[in-house]
Amino acid sequence: MSPSNEPSTSLFSPLDLRGVRLKNRIVLSPMCTYSAEDGIANNWHMVHLGQFALGGAAAVFTEAAAVEERGRITHGDLGIWSKDHAEALKPVTSFLRSHGAAPAIQIAHAGRKASMQRPWHGNGPMDDEDRARGENPWDIVAPSPEPIKEGWLVPAELTRNEITDIQDCYAAAAGHAHQAGFEILEIHSAHGYLAHSFLSPVSNKRNDEYGGDLAGRMRFTLETAEKVRAVWPDAKPMFVRISSVDADGSDEGWQLDDSVALAGELKARGVDVVDCSSGGISGLATAAVGRQSQAFRAPYSARIRAETGVSTMVVGLLLDAQVADEMIETDAADLVAVGREMLYDPYWPLHCASALGVDPEFVDWPEQYGWWLVRREALLRESGIERSGR
Ligand SMILES: Cc1cc2nc3c(=O)[nH]c(=O)nc-3n(C[C@H](O)[C@H](O)[C@H](O)COP(=O)(O)O)c2cc1C
Repeated sequence: MSPSNEPSTSLFSPLDLRGVRLKNRIVLSPMCTYSAEDGIANNWHMVHLGQFALGGAAAVFTEAAAVEERGRITHGDLGIWSKDHAEALKPVTSFLRSHGAAPAIQIAHAGRKASMQRPWHGNGPMDDEDRARGENPWDIVAPSPEPIKEGWLVPAELTRNEITDIQDCYAAAAGHAHQAGFEILEIHSAHGYLAHSFLSPVSNKRNDEYGGDLAGRMRFTLETAEKVRAVWPDAKPMFVRISSVDADGSDEGWQLDDSVALAGELKARGVDVVDCSSGGISGLATAAVGRQSQAFRAPYSARIRAETGVSTMVVGLLLDAQVADEMIETDAADLVAVGREMLYDPYWPLHCASALGVDPEFVDWPEQYGWWLVRREALLRESGIERSGR
């Protein structure tokens, strides 16, 4: 990305995945904004996602886009279950690409975590206030009739035919995503949503071939990955996000050994990147809760990468350029996904470049901005003015 006289860093080295070249290793993590109507993207999604392309991310993920209507978490979730959904996303993918970011989509089914309130409406099961707003709950499905907790909707146990139907929705969604112009597709198999709820013994109590032992619990995610890979073009990379463990620091539920086994099977099915998150099987929050250090999931990502040879993306509390650079430099991961820090600072990638001494001439900024900023920088230096903060 930089002229040859500029320092190079691991974080700002390009990465080729199939036919897609990422200009650096920084990816906007998928983050729900609950602002779609009937799953259709609008100006909000364009401006919201567009800012991260201007800010220098190599790939920009949409929030979880539902593969069918009842697979949304809330009434405001994005969807990708029809051609109309794809059409509405075309301007977004076109804008991202024109500003150097690979357009990326996460496809998802919320399973037993569907039919909820938006976080700012309560983050729980829908109630009378939601009904007054015209937002009614809907019937939800899961591997087993296990609610997230008492008082929450009880999901209907999926039949084997219904499982096949939902997997076909993932494959159809991949077709729509391709038509919409996305270059990277990620299956969401983390955070307690449908695919993860098949993986974990906490939520999967089935005793047919989609439950029981590890192979049975992995079947839904692996078959879904196969069906999606068959539709998603060969030249386009495919990611799968997993919860590396059900709960950090606990020996209950899904474990890192299980994730290593799953990652190997995913790689064998043509998955290019395993996106290493954790948690969410029982609780609500997808973002890390409790006391954690920066990049606390690096050991998960490093082990999965080392033992399977699959490329990995690490996510979770990445704030500093040096820490992100170290993730790549030490082979803990091939990519870093950044969530909340990029809500705080959508220009985080370009600010990291400055912090690491890459791009001192502001050439990687949108030219509409860089032309001015490089001149102002000289003026600031000459005037002895130092910027406060970072
Ligand atoms: C507002 C918000 C919405 C999120 N939505 C999603 C989502 O749609 N899909 C997903 O896999 N993770 C989702 N997450 C989790 C983030 O992608 C990320 O993994 C998490 O925030 C930890 O990374 P961070 O510390 O950089 O924020 C969401 C997180 C936040 C804060």
